Parts: sequence; C-alpha cells; structure tokens
Amino acid sequence: MNSPVPAAGRAAGATWSATACAHPNIALVKYWGKRDLALNLPATGSLSLTLDTLQSRCQVAPAADGDGDGDIIVLNGTVAAGAQRARLATFVELALADLGGRPRLRVACDNNFPTGAGLASSASGFAALGLALRAAGGGALPPAELSRLCRRGSGSAARSVFGGFCRMRAGERPDGADAFAEPLAGPEHWPLQVLVAIVQRGAKAVGSGEGMERSRMTSPFYAAWCAGAAGDLAAAAAAVQARDFAALATVAEHSCLKMFGVMQASLPPLLYWSPATLALIDTVRGLRRGGLDVLFTCDAGPQVKAICTPSAAPAVARALAAVPGVLEVIGCGIGGGAQLLEP
Ligand code: DP6
Repeated sequence: MNSPVPAAGRAAGATWSATACAHPNIALVKYWGKRDLALNLPATGSLSLTLDTLQSRCQVAPAADGDGDGDIIVLNGTVAAGAQRARLATFVELALADLGGRPRLRVACDNNFPTGAGLASSASGFAALGLALRAAGGGALPPAELSRLCRRGSGSAARSVFGGFCRMRAGERPDGADAFAEPLAGPEHWPLQVLVAIVQRGAKAVGSGEGMERSRMTSPFYAAWCAGAAGDLAAAAAAVQARDFAALATVAEHSCLKMFGVMQASLPPLLYWSPATLALIDTVRGLRRGGLDVLFTCDAGPQVKAICTPSAAPAVARALAAVPGVLEVIGCGIGGGAQLLEP
C-alpha cells in the first residue's frame, strides 16, 4: 500500500507523477572544489554551455503496491543500491521536504549516454530529477530556486537547469542562498557544436565530489586555482558575449588544464586521462593551428569534448574519429534547459 498523503500537508496540485528531462552541460570555466560540503557550495563560480542530444530523463510516480519499504529508485533500468541509492534518496527527501506528507515514490532516471564517465550525467540527472520531483509534489520553483535545489544534488546540475550559456555563482553566504546558476545567453546566441570523443565507457574510479575534496585537502595548487577563477569567469563571459572564439579557446583551455594540474598534484594523484585523451588534445590543437575554430575541454574522465563552429564540425569530427582509442564521436549542438514532459 502507498502510505496515505495527509491532506493538510499536501501541496496544492500534487499529483506525485511527473516526468522531466535535462541535458548535460560542459564547463568552459571549471568548478573543482567546494566551500561547504554539507550544502554543496562551490568554492568558485563556473561557466558552461548546455548540450542537446545527450539527455537524462526522470520519471516520478507513486510506488506500486508490494514494492517494499521506502522510495524505489531505479537508475538506467537497475534498482539503485549502496552509495548511489543513498545520494539519490537524500536528494528526493531534500527536494520534497517542504511539501508535507507524500506517498512512497518510484523514481526512474535514464541517461541516453554513459553514466559516471566524465560526461556530466550527474548534472543532467539531478536537474531533471529536481524538476520532476517539484512538479510531482505541486511545488514548482522559479528557475533560480530550482537551480539552488539541484546544486544540492550535484554542483554542475545547478547549471543544467538552464539552456545555452550559463554562469554559476559561487556566492558568499554561508546558507548558500546566493549560490545558483543564471543564464548568460540563449542557445541561439552562438550556435557552437560540441563533439564528444568517447575513449572509455566505464564509470570513473574517483567521483568528482571525492576528487575535488582530495584536491582541496592536498593539492599545493588549490589556492592558486581558486584565486584565478574570477578572472577566468570574466574573460569567458566577455568572449561569449562577443562571440570571440579565439578568446574563448584561450580561457577555456587554460581553465581546463589548470584544473588537471590541481588534480594531478593531489595526493594520491587524480589521473583521469588515458593516452587517447592526450592524443585528442594534440589533435585539436593541431586543427586550430591549421585555422579551424576548435577548442578542447575535459572533465573528471578521459573523454575529450571539442567545441567548434558549425563550419569546422565535419573536419573536427573526422579528425577525432581517426585518433587511436576513440570508440565513438557524439555530435551535439547547444541545447535548452530542463523541461517537463507530457505524461
Ligand atoms: C570536472 O558537479 O559532478 O565536471 O557537486 O560533487 O556533484 P558534485 O560535482 P560535479 O563536478 C563537476 C566537475 C567537473 C567540472 C565542471 O563541470 O564544472
């Protein structure tokens, strides 16, 4: 039996059923480090572009009879367990905490791309989940508040609430009220292409949250990394506004390589790259020297994302696919924000 929903605590309009989708985003100025673990507050701001094509979809519904105790959480078709379940279950509780009594829920999240492999599945996943949960509970939030909520699931999820280019504010307040993302420019502002070169399909050995905490505690470069973020953010925002590809390439690659410097100087070291990662970076740099507008970026995994102008995309895709070790190249454009889907 579903547990009864006390009428007094129930949010108006709660159906306890909703489906939402969201896309991953790729940071051009990276987030790597937290100023507060409990509230998941980033130490620095970040700037991202949201993809299309790759997508997380989360469906929330009352759990059917006989499904056992507690919420049922299903990730990519498998009932989640252990730390993965705990992280998702904590977020479900948090997202619905102010909405009063509720039934036991079945929450199913699916990604149409590899999970936990440095492709920002937590960003799209928690953005879709936050939106679906609030809609199901009849407590839809304005975008900035939704972003703040999704940040609690994953820092980068705060950015996937929005489409196009967006900026995450680190904020200063201890309660995190000022730590949320906001749109910088819509997808139509600068229709760049993103080519994701997949070199490994398994989940990464050290998750982002654990990795960034290790860097904060042990990397001798961590303080310098944080100190440089404001300048990188300003430069990247100006480059996006002006659609200045060369300027964006300079700041985005610098931010990416500085983050990997911090990671590699952590103890034990965080080595997310594979030989193919470096070969891909080299390829992108060669293409740019040859006159193409293309830049590289990587996240906590070995995949390389090449960001380029539409006219450069076919040549970039061919060059990436030819690098030994590349399993697949996925082409994306710039996508929209998290959205509810019809039942
Ligand atoms: C390397 O958002 O996954 O992709 O807040 O702990 O969930 P948590 O971390 P997460 O970290 C993303 C790190 C990154 C850089 C970025 O996306 O800015």
